[in-house]
Amino acid sequence: MADTITIIDDRTGKKVTVPITGGVFSSSALRDLDPNLFMYDPAYLSTASCASSITYLDGDAGILRYRGYPIEQLAKNSTFLEVAYLLINGQLPTASELKTWQFDVTHHTMIHENMRKRFVDGFHYDAHPMGMFISAIAALGTFYEDAKDIFEKESFDKQILRLVAKVPTIAAMCYRFSQGLPFVSPNNSLSYGENFLNMMFRIGDDYKVNPVLARAMDVLFILHADHEQNCGTTTMRVVSSANSDPYTATAAAAAALYGPLHGGANEAVVRMLSEIGDVSNVPAFIEEVKTGHGRLMGFGHRVYKNFDPRATIIKNTAYEVFAVTGMNPLLEVALELERVALSDDYFVSRKLYPNVDFYSGLIYEALGFPVDMFTVLFAIPRTVGWLAHMQELLADKEQKISRPRQWYTGLGEREYIAIAKR
Ligand code: CMC
Repeated sequence: MADTITIIDDRTGKKVTVPITGGVFSSSALRDLDPNLFMYDPAYLSTASCASSITYLDGDAGILRYRGYPIEQLAKNSTFLEVAYLLINGQLPTASELKTWQFDVTHHTMIHENMRKRFVDGFHYDAHPMGMFISAIAALGTFYEDAKDIFEKESFDKQILRLVAKVPTIAAMCYRFSQGLPFVSPNNSLSYGENFLNMMFRIGDDYKVNPVLARAMDVLFILHADHEQNCGTTTMRVVSSANSDPYTATAAAAAALYGPLHGGANEAVVRMLSEIGDVSNVPAFIEEVKTGHGRLMGFGHRVYKNFDPRATIIKNTAYEVFAVTGMNPLLEVALELERVALSDDYFVSRKLYPNVDFYSGLIYEALGFPVDMFTVLFAIPRTVGWLAHMQELLADKEQKISRPRQWYTGLGEREYIAIAKR
């Protein structure tokens, strides 16, 4: 059987045959039938907007791979910085490449004093850390003259390094500001995850990062590092397609991530679990969701229709963290919610399973992060994925500035009416 698809325009009888490669055919062939014919695909449900070799995802089989490596193997064996190198460079680093990369990232963690003293200090005392984070990332780019030199490899690599290194510093700075705590400078002797926890929680001299918690942080960062063309990454690509600098594009992608249907879901999950409060309230909550009142946050996914492999890993990590921090009382509510939902036809028939956000919030809470910080914790590792996609887009000869077509459904031409006659 030929790997082609034939489309016939019944209005004219014209037809066009297009090859199917890897389950995809080029819809631009439609233009051969009629240059004014467009596909209507709100929310890109059946449109691939790019070719990418970064992340593979099979939603039906629950498979997630970065550059070919299964997420389970990376979460078990790798560090976040090693995964970051992999996503950006396409290969796992050799021992010496990793050493250099770790050294370089570690030595770019500082941010300009003006960022903290002049910029962050200007926020209202109760500003949401994610709003601060988004603005701070955009502001960061204004400190680097070479930020806009995106087609010069050396310069672009430098911006990648700066962003990967500085996002934890910025995230911690936003948190410390919101708590009224003094800023803790990056510590070059610590690993990426340890340094972040230290900048977040150090008070006085006796703070020691617990290795189990630092490892959990690293695993969470690995799991969130990339997820192909979701809303935030697509935003990154759309903004980058206009040749914006990587700081502005990252800020835009983070803005998309902030939404409660995307990265904001982990925050929404913990708020939902707190509202439910007790396992005895779970059945009533599930009934409410089924009658269309709200959603079961942390459930469902556009692509995963069987299980989210990240959720399985996170659930195990949760128990390791709770062994150190003590049990999060909301875990009981979460487990019961999961049990009831997974045995209810409403959720089963719609293929709604726990996603990455269902348990991550509980771990973040146990680690001591306030709910407001949860999406920031997602944005730190996802910055790596966004930058890998920007790099890929800029090298892709088939890409141009993003500019979808629209289906105009408004009124036809009409005469202007003077205000007195309206
Ligand atoms: N609770 C209850 N019903 C749901 C849920 C949910 N969480 N998710 C989907 N549905 C129902 C929805 O009402 C619809 O039912 P019907 O066919 O009767 O109208 C059906 O399932 C299909 O839903 P959809 O909205 O068409 O699915 P989607 O692919 O557009 O949405 C989603 C995917 C993730 C936005 C959605 O499942 C959702 O809102 N989940 C809750 C928010 C959440 O956990 N988001 C995190 C996603 S994973 C991390 C990330 O992407 O950042």
